[in-house]
Amino acid sequence: MPRYRLWLLTVALWVAGCGGPFPQTTLEPRSDFGSVIDQLFTGIFWWAAGVFLVVETLLVITLIRFRHREGRPAPKPTHGHTLMEIAWTLAPAAILVFVAVPTVRTIFATAGEAPADALKVDVIGHQWWWEFRYRELGLVTANELHVPLGRAVQLSITSADVIHAFWAPPLGGKRDAIPGHVNRIAFRADRVGVYDGQCAEFCGASHANMRLRVVVDSDSGFGRWATVQLAGPAAPAAGTLAERGKAVFARSACIGCHTIQGVSPGVIGPNLTHVGSRATIASGLFPNDSAHLASWIADAPALKPGSLMTRMKPPLKDDDIAALVAYLASLK
Ligand code: CUA
Repeated sequence: MPRYRLWLLTVALWVAGCGGPFPQTTLEPRSDFGSVIDQLFTGIFWWAAGVFLVVETLLVITLIRFRHREGRPAPKPTHGHTLMEIAWTLAPAAILVFVAVPTVRTIFATAGEAPADALKVDVIGHQWWWEFRYRELGLVTANELHVPLGRAVQLSITSADVIHAFWAPPLGGKRDAIPGHVNRIAFRADRVGVYDGQCAEFCGASHANMRLRVVVDSDSGFGRWATVQLAGPAAPAAGTLAERGKAVFARSACIGCHTIQGVSPGVIGPNLTHVGSRATIASGLFPNDSAHLASWIADAPALKPGSLMTRMKPPLKDDDIAALVAYLASLK
């Protein structure tokens, strides 16, 4: 390949990184926590850019000015220049102070306790999905965390099995989810929207498939969501496919792992009481539609390696799966 083509390819690949969209960028903060991290990053970035510029300029000047030329004697080395030695010791120390002061201030700001009226949510990492428990509201959901706009939220993060890490980049920093230990993070979301996040600590075969979404609702929107979640599941109308699906659910292995309020008490897998109200299934991997639900029920490990939801033995019949899908979709 001629050299100019290699250059073109390199530049094209480099520029391709500028396209977006960037659903998991930390550079568009959407909470108070995200904003202080962003300000710290931007401040340190400019200090680093200044250091880079000074060092590279000196380097280039030195390379040009003292490069070897025919017949020119070697430049005279300098030894023991006290002023220069003091200067290059003090300058980095001063720069480090300018970096350290805002860093320490930000650490304290983001590690502080949430105000007493904060909405408290327990976040539990599982291989490979997220459980969200709203203790005060008495409701449990999975993979899609709803929070109200402008109100302080405190997440108490732990794990049911191995170490995971909760990370919703526009809203706050990463926090490890460690079994037997609780880590906290507090933030106040400042824009309505749906924000992507994911597990940020390698936790096994489907680590990359352990996604999550944070839905920031308006105050009234959050109230409506909570009311719907608190209500029991809708009972399917008599004679419908969904009603048959409920019967299939009740006599299959599903009940061993999943809770549907008033139907089954399983606690190993995600709570399905209002699974139909969620936008995604399988921890944010797929849209929540009939086709994906059907292939998920038929063979979850094929879609998510290592999934604890194994293929049923004997496998469910296609019409049973269709009935189950209709039932789950009805659980709004
Ligand atoms: Cu959970 Cu990575």
